[in-house]
Amino acid sequence: MKYKRRKVLEGLFVGLAVPVAAEGQMPNEASLLPPQPGDLLVYAYGDAAGSVVSVDDLKADSKQVFAWAMDPLAGTIRNGTRMNQLVLVRVDPARMSEATAARSAGGLLAYSGICSHTGCDVTDWNGEFLRFQCPCHESQFDPADGARVVGGPAPWQLASLPLENRDGKVGVAGEFEGRVGFQQPGLSPFGI
Ligand code: FES
Repeated sequence: MKYKRRKVLEGLFVGLAVPVAAEGQMPNEASLLPPQPGDLLVYAYGDAAGSVVSVDDLKADSKQVFAWAMDPLAGTIRNGTRMNQLVLVRVDPARMSEATAARSAGGLLAYSGICSHTGCDVTDWNGEFLRFQCPCHESQFDPADGARVVGGPAPWQLASLPLENRDGKVGVAGEFEGRVGFQQPGLSPFGI
């Protein structure tokens, strides 16, 4: 399969653009931990960055947003590594597989935001088929069915993060299910 060079460069830029710690500073240990049961989700970027996600947020079947987990007691946002970044989306429950619905909080679903192919951020959305799409080589993942691969070279689905409704806020109900990371770490310094 031949990939478009422009797309690859765009994707690499997107991947490297994710801030993990202020320049010259070591991220603290708690920020490096993957999302933990009991954490809350906060928005990663934009005007709402750092705000807790509500179970009523986001429009159904619309483009994903990026989020991090946060320890609600210490207030530590687990953004010390981009491997912790999440994509958050609202899916019509009628379209969800049974296993996916069990991980949802009121229709919201969270997945690892790292593409399993070569590790780009999963930033794009295919509005026609209601799927995540990776900007690098156009892998597609179905959020209504465990983010399984439905197109492109990605070798495995995005890892799922179980969620729960915690008094109207979106909480983490369990650890990642599935593998976080990617297949060809040679293209990125962040491979695991
Ligand atoms: S990094 Fe290649 S399809 Fe996502």
